[in-house]
Amino acid sequence: MTKNKTAAIVLAAGLGTRMKSTLPKVMHPIAGRPMIRHLLDTLKRVEMDRIVVVVGPDQQEIVDAVAPIPCVVQQERLGTGDAVKAAMSALKGFQGDVLVVFGDTPLITRETIFAMLESRRAAPHPAVVVLGFEPDEPGAYGRLLIDPEDGRLEAIVEAKDASAEQRDIGLCNSGLMAVDGAVLPQLLSRLSNRNAKGEYYLTDLVALAREDGFDCAWVEGEEQELIGVNTRVDLAMVETLVQDALRTRAMEGGATLLDPSTVWLCHDTKVGCDVTIGPNVFFGPGVRVGDGVVIKGFCHIEGAHIAKNAIVGPFARLRPGAILDEDSHVGNFVEIKNATVESGAKVNHLSYIGDARIGAGANVGAGTITCNYNGFTKSHTDIGAGAFIGSNSALVAPVRIGAGALVGAGSTIGEDVPDDAIAVTRVAVKTVPGGAARYRQRRQAKKDGGA
Ligand code: UD1
Ligand code: MG
Repeated sequence: MTKNKTAAIVLAAGLGTRMKSTLPKVMHPIAGRPMIRHLLDTLKRVEMDRIVVVVGPDQQEIVDAVAPIPCVVQQERLGTGDAVKAAMSALKGFQGDVLVVFGDTPLITRETIFAMLESRRAAPHPAVVVLGFEPDEPGAYGRLLIDPEDGRLEAIVEAKDASAEQRDIGLCNSGLMAVDGAVLPQLLSRLSNRNAKGEYYLTDLVALAREDGFDCAWVEGEEQELIGVNTRVDLAMVETLVQDALRTRAMEGGATLLDPSTVWLCHDTKVGCDVTIGPNVFFGPGVRVGDGVVIKGFCHIEGAHIAKNAIVGPFARLRPGAILDEDSHVGNFVEIKNATVESGAKVNHLSYIGDARIGAGANVGAGTITCNYNGFTKSHTDIGAGAFIGSNSALVAPVRIGAGALVGAGSTIGEDVPDDAIAVTRVAVKTVPGGAARYRQRRQAKKDGGA
């Protein structure tokens, strides 16, 4: 690649009306992060010299999501050409190529961007390069008009302005465009809105450049990476493609996914090798899974770090701050939040462990609850190494159970238990010999009509 400088303008000011949402379209998440962030990540990997995002006047959430990348506000949504004009104020003094990308086209790849920039920089140095594609359904996409003689790009006509004959053209505009920054301002200044939508179309740049005697070219891309998200159905389609890619990456990294299509990964999920993931497992943001871990079916995991050889699930829920050390076990219907389960410790059944440490090798019995919240503040529970917590115990935080201590089943522990002590809070059992038989006799007699 030559050393020309490149600036990217990301258009994101559109209303996204067809999403039927109060959330701006480019903020809808794909694999757990806003779709615009996928695109910005790709641009970062192309090493753009400048990036600017165009937002609408009421879209602070986009500004926050893309920070520190600068945004400019397009005051009125007068079309894609007007949006690029708005961005130019942020590119004062910039000399080089300008790449225009749409915030609602998140799957574009680095290779495609490189191909466009290369075409822009190679002889005959076209002033404008457009990324075209041949979708199954050309529908509302703009159509590329190609000179049959030399194969060069002559103009783009929007579907709404196209003649029936032009609408039969299969080659469409993906929206991506690389323009020589030296000619862009003068071309933009000549855009008009005399068209079917009454908008300033960016696509008219091609015909204007040709009028001035500049060459224009097109590069062909794959439909899969050029899907523009306009509706929730498009969003789901893009999510499926991203999920498939993430699953493939996990499997190529040495993980077995027993039923890949049911495992939902996040863009940042890190999975080690020799990991087995059962069916219907969900990963939210910030999860790291070490080598040799087994995650059984139906687990919901976010913000958790799971170390080597731990066993999780089925039906476990790991919430942010859950840290499972090596060889620990977290079993069915167990919820862990902001708590460390140290190496070899076990919490296998029906528990809530929040704001806690479970020391190495400790065993937490079925139904144990850390009572971490009093309605106002959260408090910590500390369980020492090798402790044994009997089933159905309530540990009322703040509380410390010493190393090697034993808590009797059914206890409610509201004070610290020293190392190696036994603590039990249990009402004495009252046994009445023959009592059940006498009770049944009495009830039966009453039912049968006796006194
Ligand atoms: C546009 C292209 C069309 C192409 C299609 C590909 C134009 C005139 N048409 O049509 O040729 O086939 O994309 O998906 O460019 N935006 C703004 N400000 C505005 C209007 C739009 O920032 O005033 C942004 C939107 O947020 C979006 C992008 O520009 O990210 C494209 O806008 P959209 O309205 O979706 O254009 P299309 O009608 O799809
Ligand atoms: Mg669109």
